[in-house]
Amino acid sequence: MCGIIGYIGKSGDTGEILIEGLKRLEYRGYDSAGIAVVNDNKLTWEKTAGKIHQLEEKCREIDLSGCLGIAHTRWATHGEPNRTNAHPHFDCGERIALVHNGIIENYRTLKKSLEAENHRFITETDTEVLAHLIEKYYSGEGLEYAVQKALQIVEGTYGILVISATEPDKIVGARNGSPLVVGVGEGEFVVSSDVAAILKHTRQVIYLEDLQMIVATPEGFNTMTIENEYVEHIIQEVDWDLEMIEKGGFSHFMLKEIFEQPDTIMNAMRGRLIPATGDAKLGGLNITEEELRAIRRIVLIGCGTSWHAALIGEYMIEEKSRIPVEVEYASEFRYRNPIMEDGTLVFVISQSGETVDTLAAQREAEKRGAECMGIVNVVGSTIAREAKRGVYIHAGPEIGVASTKAFTSQITVLALLALVLGRQRIISSAEGQRIIEAMQAIPGHVEQILNSDGSIKEIAEKYHHHNNFLYLGRGANYPVALEGALKLKEISYVHAEGYPAAEMKHGPIALIDENMPVVFICPRDNAYQKILGNICEVKARNGKIIAITNEGNKEVIEMADHVIFIPKSLDFLYPILAVIPLQLIAYHIAVLRGCNVDQPRNLAKSVTVE
Ligand code: G6P
Repeated sequence: MCGIIGYIGKSGDTGEILIEGLKRLEYRGYDSAGIAVVNDNKLTWEKTAGKIHQLEEKCREIDLSGCLGIAHTRWATHGEPNRTNAHPHFDCGERIALVHNGIIENYRTLKKSLEAENHRFITETDTEVLAHLIEKYYSGEGLEYAVQKALQIVEGTYGILVISATEPDKIVGARNGSPLVVGVGEGEFVVSSDVAAILKHTRQVIYLEDLQMIVATPEGFNTMTIENEYVEHIIQEVDWDLEMIEKGGFSHFMLKEIFEQPDTIMNAMRGRLIPATGDAKLGGLNITEEELRAIRRIVLIGCGTSWHAALIGEYMIEEKSRIPVEVEYASEFRYRNPIMEDGTLVFVISQSGETVDTLAAQREAEKRGAECMGIVNVVGSTIAREAKRGVYIHAGPEIGVASTKAFTSQITVLALLALVLGRQRIISSAEGQRIIEAMQAIPGHVEQILNSDGSIKEIAEKYHHHNNFLYLGRGANYPVALEGALKLKEISYVHAEGYPAAEMKHGPIALIDENMPVVFICPRDNAYQKILGNICEVKARNGKIIAITNEGNKEVIEMADHVIFIPKSLDFLYPILAVIPLQLIAYHIAVLRGCNVDQPRNLAKSVTVE
């Protein structure tokens, strides 16, 4: 969480550039924000509780021109989101300014000893110790050396940017556990948590590794470790462009991303299907036939929506390859002494590639000897780089905090993985061809579902005042129910529960009355007959039934209050289709309830704290 950005260059409009960059990072945190620039050996700063536009308002009254500066958008961990606790933080003399993404774990001890040395603290944050530590070590040797000394004694995670009024031509950045990307432009450098804030300036970037630093001046830059060892950097070209991170005429990023899904699902499959033989090829796995044969067990790890994708992956892989699959919450996996025997292959699933629990689980699995592969969206992210092998889902930048297109792309890639593993074991070439044909039809099917947005919106209009929802599905559509409920909770603050439809009898059925909308995911798959019984049970108790099923399904039409149709497909691919109406229901309900769809309260897109 938290987004940081620093700019150094000849533009002179540093304030504007930084605020513009913060807007691109706002998804990472949006409870307070701040900015500092150095001009003429003078530090000018502003901060505020609230969103970037509030900071922008305040900044109109001050001169933020200059050649370098730093800025921050916050998701509070230590200390409430007020103006004092907002970044940047300063040393006693207010000569040094610092922004930080991460958590300094030993800040209490450090704070005590710094206070004993007469450093004055004014915030409740963990970050402030860093500013004072740097002050303590700042001598004639230069800012970077003070930063190095400070970082050598802190424990925890950080992406930081530091400036000093004493050295008005230098930005120092460092990372450990939180991302930091350096954009290398023409006579300017932009350093940020995410390439989204850099793209306007350049597509040439360097991804810093953990414990590495950058020192940038208008003339050039150096990279090194925090132990001051020289580091050779590699400049890479980002293949995202500015248009991809704009709203493109949609009222919210979330809606834009929902509507992008025919393309993003196609992108997840592009070049990976071999229709002639019924095979799929996932080049990034770089896996030999022998390695494939040696797999005895697969573990899928993720958080939030990525964890739901993993649950669907479990159904897909087990059904198509008969390899046993386990799904783990990343946050639980690392603390429960997991067993990683020979033949276990771990897939780490993450949209951002930066979720700290997922990254820690990946490291834990590797430490225990497991081979870890990534299923990641953000190219060059920490999880992707540490995994070395894996599959990019190629969904493009996802800005809306509630994940939508990344989810369907993750499931698409998991379906491809099931096909790869299945073809090697139990799936014939002819069946592989049938699967490929069905997969190729998915983008068109999604398009068709999106065309029914008008009637989905009408359902949302009818139910948006309700404060409880139940989502029910069976088999691979049970995780879809979980995902539908999560979407509603995340963006409209409505209580919703996802449940396996038959389990409803063991508790949630007590909640059902005429005020309870129940969303059934019931395509004509192998669980269909069974779920009809569950629909009857809800109907008998006057629950309001919203059903997602196939066109022309008379039985369900007769029983349900509302029906949303999805085209016919293979059973194991229904989750990709069934989730689309659920995303739209959540979106419309959130808008109707006046919620901030793209930036729901208390959440952040990329959770980089435990
Ligand atoms: C946060 C986001 C969710 C996301 C989860 C995992 O909670 O708000 O949308 O599913 O993190 O993120 P990842 O980037 O690892 O998929």
